[in-house]
Amino acid sequence: MKTIVSPSILSADFSCLARDIEMLNQSEADWVHADIMDGVFVPNISFGFPVLKSVARITQKPLDVHLMIVQPEKFIPEVKALGARFMNVHYEACPHLHRVVQQIREAGMQPAVTLNPATPVALLKDILADVDMVLLMSVNPGFGGQKFIEHTLDKVRELRELIAQTGSHALIEVDGGVNLETGARLTEAGANVLVAGSAIFNAPDPAAAIHALKSL
Ligand code: DX5
Ligand code: ZN
Repeated sequence: MKTIVSPSILSADFSCLARDIEMLNQSEADWVHADIMDGVFVPNISFGFPVLKSVARITQKPLDVHLMIVQPEKFIPEVKALGARFMNVHYEACPHLHRVVQQIREAGMQPAVTLNPATPVALLKDILADVDMVLLMSVNPGFGGQKFIEHTLDKVRELRELIAQTGSHALIEVDGGVNLETGARLTEAGANVLVAGSAIFNAPDPAAAIHALKSL
C-alpha cells in the first residue's frame, strides 16, 4: 500500500489559508490533517470550527480531524458538519472511549484513537477492532516543529503486531516531527499514514515535499 500523506495545516500560513489549501488541492496529498486544541488538554490553542468550516468549503481532500481537547464527544455534531472523514480522539481524554468510538461511527465518520507518547500501545487491545485508525503521537501534542521521539518506532512495530493478532483493519498514522528521514523509518516499521506540518509548509516547495513523502 502506498504511503498516505496527511499535511497538517497547523503549519500553514493562516493569513493565506485559501492559497495553502489550494496548493494541497493541486498536490498529491491524500487528506488534510486539522489540529483542534483547547488550551486545557494541551498547552496551546489552534483554531476552531468557524475556521475549519471555511477550510471544508474549499478543500477537495478528506478532512482528518485531530481533537486535542477534553470531552471531544461534545463536538461530534460539529466535526460531522464539516464533512470530516476521520475523527481522532485521544485515549487520554476519553474515560468512556468505547462509547465515543461508537458515537463517531453512528454519526457516519471513521473513528480513530490517538495515543500520547507515554501511553502504551497495549492499552488499545480491547478497542482496536472498533477503530479504523490509530494515531501515534511522536511528539507531545500542542505544537508543530518539535523533535521526533525515537521510541515511536518501537510503538509502531508493537502496534503492527497487535493489529495482526486482533485481526483489526486499523491504519497506523504517526504525527509529530515527521520528515523524509523519520518518515522513511516509520513506513519501514509499518506506519501507513504520515502527518507532516513543518516538513511540508516550511519546505521551499511544499508540493514537492508531499511528493517525496508519498514515495516513502
Ligand atoms: C501537534 C500536532 C501536529 C503538528 C505536527 O500537536 O498534532 O499535527 O501539526 O507538526 P510537525 O509536523 O511540524 O511536527
Ligand atoms: Zn495532529
